[in-house]
Amino acid sequence: KKVGVLISGSGTNLQALIDASKNVTYQMGAEIVLVISNKPGVKGLDRAHNAGIKTKVIKHVDYKDREAFDKAMDTELVQQGVDIICLAGFMRILSPWFVKKWRGAIINIHPSLLPSFKGANAHEEVLKYGARVSGCTVHFVNEDIDSGAIIEQEAVPVMPTDTKVTLEERIKKAEHKVFPKALKLLATNQIKLKDDNTIEWLNL
Ligand code: GRF
Repeated sequence: KKVGVLISGSGTNLQALIDASKNVTYQMGAEIVLVISNKPGVKGLDRAHNAGIKTKVIKHVDYKDREAFDKAMDTELVQQGVDIICLAGFMRILSPWFVKKWRGAIINIHPSLLPSFKGANAHEEVLKYGARVSGCTVHFVNEDIDSGAIIEQEAVPVMPTDTKVTLEERIKKAEHKVFPKALKLLATNQIKLKDDNTIEWLNL
């Protein structure tokens, strides 16, 4: 399967996907053919270049609305023959049009155990709440934020001495394991998003 990865930043998850896809024994069944960033100059773009993957910067500020921006991304993804889209630290909300068009083919990584701590400030909120466990979730993308069917999760302890930085670092290690695992499940047709928005597990 051909994969497009959308990023906005450092791209450590992108790196994990690149490494797994290039590892023959991992048998991911997926090749990353395009990386799109809505921000220029981010480290994730360097990671893609170093791996010989085509990149495209599409700045959301250059478009009149969300859908126009999404249409520009869609054009590139279609042009590269993309089958599956991974959101790897992509900090834009996708339009209903885009989400519907790619239904069952977009997955996102979120740094908490969903449905707890949705949104862009998960680590801060976990620490503020005093939760003793957090983690990460890979899920299908639907029209509601951080709400689609769950594919993979991993729990990570929260230490009393944690700061946002130390917690984020511990959780990212788990992210780098579960994201390739989830992509493999989708790319090798072991999971499918059903019409009722739950997952069908195949060939178990
Ligand atoms: C990750 O923590 C991911 O869960 C969240 O954004 C962060 C991206 O990090 N959605 P990176 O760019 O992959 O290093």
